Amino acid sequence: MTPPPLIILTGAGISAESGLSTFRDPDGLWARHRIEDVATPEAFARDPARVHAFYNARRAQLRDPAIQPNAAHHAVARLVAAWPAPALLVTQNVDDLHDRAMPGGGGAPLLHMHGELARIRCLACGEGHRWTQDLSTATPCPACGKAGGLRPDVVWFGEVPLGLERIEAALEDCGLFLSIGTSGQVYPAAGFVAALRGRARTVELNLEPSAGTPLFDEAEHGPATRCVPRFVERLLAEWR
Ligand code: APR
Repeated sequence: MTPPPLIILTGAGISAESGLSTFRDPDGLWARHRIEDVATPEAFARDPARVHAFYNARRAQLRDPAIQPNAAHHAVARLVAAWPAPALLVTQNVDDLHDRAMPGGGGAPLLHMHGELARIRCLACGEGHRWTQDLSTATPCPACGKAGGLRPDVVWFGEVPLGLERIEAALEDCGLFLSIGTSGQVYPAAGFVAALRGRARTVELNLEPSAGTPLFDEAEHGPATRCVPRFVERLLAEWR
């Protein structure tokens, strides 16, 4: 019997043990910042400097050598590479820890549905660029040279997530769904498990029960760096 097509969905919890804040944990980003002030198009139009400061602090973490992919990122990379059927890694995270853990730096099997912190986009000319430094309203666009129009290339609240057609096509064929480190509170990602009920084996690996836990066939709760490598080894052994 051949293994089923696999979708892995990850959230901020998979990067927590690498030192990156989650959003809704007690010490999370939304405990310290208001979404309306830093993560909407309206916030950027109203006070771009405040939005740049929020993302500059998070982008600086990507340059911090102390922040590296952890055992869970590496286990997911192993699973995607070794899975003997189609495998798609959909991440809600805008950090680059999955990219850095995967051979070839990510590529086709990895889809950042909320965009990437290490990219910017110019509202004047539309060009996108890889960018890991601070950004301000004075930064000139590397393509058109205009200042004031560069924004983080991440999906803000009220904007359309990326790759939805590709995700919907993968959900059609999916036979195994693994959700890692997400609170299951933000759609459309939070809706994937419900869409797969009765059609796929669904598994949640999370520090603690989430809003979606009751919808999963199986759930294991504990730190990702412990639960994910253990689950991945068991899963690959099942299909060897
Ligand atoms: N190991 C495993 N899971 C963990 C760990 C850990 N070490 N630490 C925290 N978690 C879990 C938490 O229990 C929580 O369920 O990770 C989840 C993080 O949830 P959120 O902070 O809500 O992050 P996420 O689900 O990724 O948010 C989704 O919301 O704000 C938007 O765009 C943002 O992509 C983000 C989206």
